[in-house]
Parts: sequence; structure tokens; C-alpha cells
Amino acid sequence: ASSKGDLLSPKRIVTIAHRGASGYAPEHTMSSYQLAYKMKADYIELDLQMTKDGQLIAMHDETLDRTTNGSGAVKDHTLREIKQLDAGSWFNETYHNQAKMEYKGLKVPTLDEILETFGKHANYYIETKSPNTYPGMEEKLIETLKKHHLIGPHAKRGQVMIQSFSKDSLLKIRDLDPKLPTIQLLNAKSMQSITDATLTEIRSYAVGIGPDFKSLKGKNVQDIRQHDLLLHPYTVNDKAEMTRLLTLGITGAFTNYADLFNEAKKEF
Ligand code: G3P
Ligand code: CA
Repeated sequence: ASSKGDLLSPKRIVTIAHRGASGYAPEHTMSSYQLAYKMKADYIELDLQMTKDGQLIAMHDETLDRTTNGSGAVKDHTLREIKQLDAGSWFNETYHNQAKMEYKGLKVPTLDEILETFGKHANYYIETKSPNTYPGMEEKLIETLKKHHLIGPHAKRGQVMIQSFSKDSLLKIRDLDPKLPTIQLLNAKSMQSITDATLTEIRSYAVGIGPDFKSLKGKNVQDIRQHDLLLHPYTVNDKAEMTRLLTLGITGAFTNYADLFNEAKKEF
């Protein structure tokens, strides 16, 4: 049952490859996305940042320091500058047993390049990161999706999901394209104090919730599902934890190990 149905159906359990297959390859590189695709993840997860010259790139942090050999804020660098950087060697140095020669010298990809590479063969679960730092990021995102025909009359339902911790950013997306499904991300603290009223409010603009899995109790799962919301916790990397959450009734998960979650969900 887990692989059947529309991408937005609660009966379909979706595997969201967090930063690509980031347990095996450097996060947010083409290698990481290619591997996620090979593992048959339902979605490639992308975090977006914006360069000084207004280009959207895939990167988790607001700074270049952790995942490249550069330093400083993304917003203070042009795409041309960022393209000089090595986005793979840090992985080899940090995870010796996953290191591969081919990761050395990998480049930071732009959203445009990712969509050009996978086109309609993949589905995309895109996060507007730090939208307050990047005015115009939502407009640029919509424009890029349009360019690749991933939104509009011929788009497949659920092929693109937009996720954010920022409600304002999701509302902006909804204003720009009311048909694009959005997911409200919640940190552990907001998940723990969630009320019925908040769930009803979230349902008015989003199709689902992406909470920190550590804060998710059985009672929350029932409440969320009763509000007709999809439930995709992040970031679930342990097989036993995957099984526990699937038993509670999640409808998908973010994971660094898409292969492991695909295996776990077969039983459900
Ligand atoms: O987008 C879901 C999850 O990825 C949120 O946490 O920090 O990994 O983007 P983060
Ligand atoms: Ca994310």
C-alpha cells in the first residue's frame, strides 16, 4: 500500500530524501540527488539560499563554512564566487568510511540546474530557508518552477511541495500560486504545545505538517491526521524509529537514508 496512490494521498507513504541521499554522499550535491533518485526516493528535499546576485542555490546553512571550503554568508557572495568552491571534500574529511574520490571538487548546484537535470522524472520537496534574509526568494522560486513547467496547467499534483518554518513565506507562496501544496514545518517546542485551533489554522493554508520527529507523540499523530493533514516528520535515520513512527500513522518522513525508509515502509 505504501507505494500506491496520488503523491498527496494520506494512503501513500512518501520517502523524502533529506538533502538528497545525504547519509552516503555530500548533502545538496548532484551526487547526493542522483543517489536518492537511484534509491527510488519519492522526493528530493532541497533547502534554498539566495546569492548576492539573486540566484537560488541548494544549501542548508546561511553560511558557506560547513559544507564548502569557502567562508562567510551566502548573501555576500555572487554565484560566480560560490561556483569556485568545493562542496564535497568536507564530507570525505568528516565521514571517512563514506568517502569517495568522486566527491572531491563537487560544485554547489543552483535550483535551475537541479530542475534541468531531473526535470519531470523526480519530485521536489523545497524549503524556503531564512526567507527574511532573502526578500524576493518566493518570487524567484515560482519563476524558476514555471520555467521548468513544474507548476501551471500541465503540472502533476504533488510533484512540487513547498515547506517552511515561516508561515509568512508559505502564505506568500500561496498568493503566488494557490495550487502549490505547502507544508508547515514545526520545531520540537511548537509541536509540543500545539493546539486544535493551531491545527485548524494550519489546515487553512497547508496540506500537512513537518515536525521534529523527537517531539511527536501518538496523541499528536491522531490529532494531526484527524485534521486531514499529511504528516512528514524530520529527520528519521534509525530503522527502529522509522517503524515506531509508521505504526503511529505518519504519511511519510524526511530521511538521510532513503533506502532504509523504503525498506521500513514495505511492511505498512
Ligand atoms: O525540512 C525539514 C527538515 O529538513 C528541517 O530541518 O534544518 O534539516 O532543514 P533542516
Ligand atoms: Ca530542510
